[in-house]
Amino acid sequence: MTDSKTHSRGILIAGNWKMNHSRADTQNFLKQYLKESSALKNPKVSAWIYPSFTSLTSALEATQGSSVKIGAQNAHWEEKGAFTGEISASMLKDIGIHHALVGHSERRQFFGETDETVRKRAETLLRHDFHVILCIGETQAQREAGETHAVIQRQLKGAIPDPQSGVATFLTTGKLILAYEPVWAIGTGLTATPAQAEEAHALIRKELLTRFGAGAADRTPVLYGGSVKPDNIHELLKCPNIDGALVGGASLKATDFLALVKAAHEVL
Ligand code: PGA
Repeated sequence: MTDSKTHSRGILIAGNWKMNHSRADTQNFLKQYLKESSALKNPKVSAWIYPSFTSLTSALEATQGSSVKIGAQNAHWEEKGAFTGEISASMLKDIGIHHALVGHSERRQFFGETDETVRKRAETLLRHDFHVILCIGETQAQREAGETHAVIQRQLKGAIPDPQSGVATFLTTGKLILAYEPVWAIGTGLTATPAQAEEAHALIRKELLTRFGAGAADRTPVLYGGSVKPDNIHELLKCPNIDGALVGGASLKATDFLALVKAAHEVL
């Protein structure tokens, strides 16, 4: 499944901690991870971690001088104002954060996130020079109804509607990263098979090519997410259109996260 062009975009292992880990847990995790990963030096492998808002500064302190990047799990599209419970891109930048997730299926499922709000969040963050991981993916019911391709196309169009402006203008910068996360595979232990994941990723790449051109298709990394674990990541990373993984459960323990980053080094 590999060829010489595989992983020309490198491999990114991103850990989405969701609503887990105190500041002390964060510091312990990072201390252990940085110590045990010191021999893993391939610059084509990146490791990014998305702790809760309350642990962001502890994580930044703990990773100072290392190549690990720290990101936020969400950000609002407005600069400031009456948006109780939200945090703006400027506020994140103010504490030294330049990476963020948008459109995670848990935000879509439980917090009313729509294709439109995902687009707005992504656009604002990109304008603020963030690296943005934008998540898409179908539910179990949509897959069973044969709607997987239509859902992927709709969500991509929702996030990047206009080829000439907005999010699309960042497609060749490498700062927009897509994550294909089939909802039925998130936190369920049901991973998409490498063939199922590669099929969806190839479709995403084709959509990027036909709607935005070769530059966008070549430069946009597409991560797979959904029950990625140390024992299934190798096969997924061997697929030519899978540029890394967005990992929930298996990113919570330093030893597991280390095993995932090690796997990325082995696959390259
Ligand atoms: P999981 O979560 O690895 O626990 O399935 C993935 C995600 O939600 O990004």
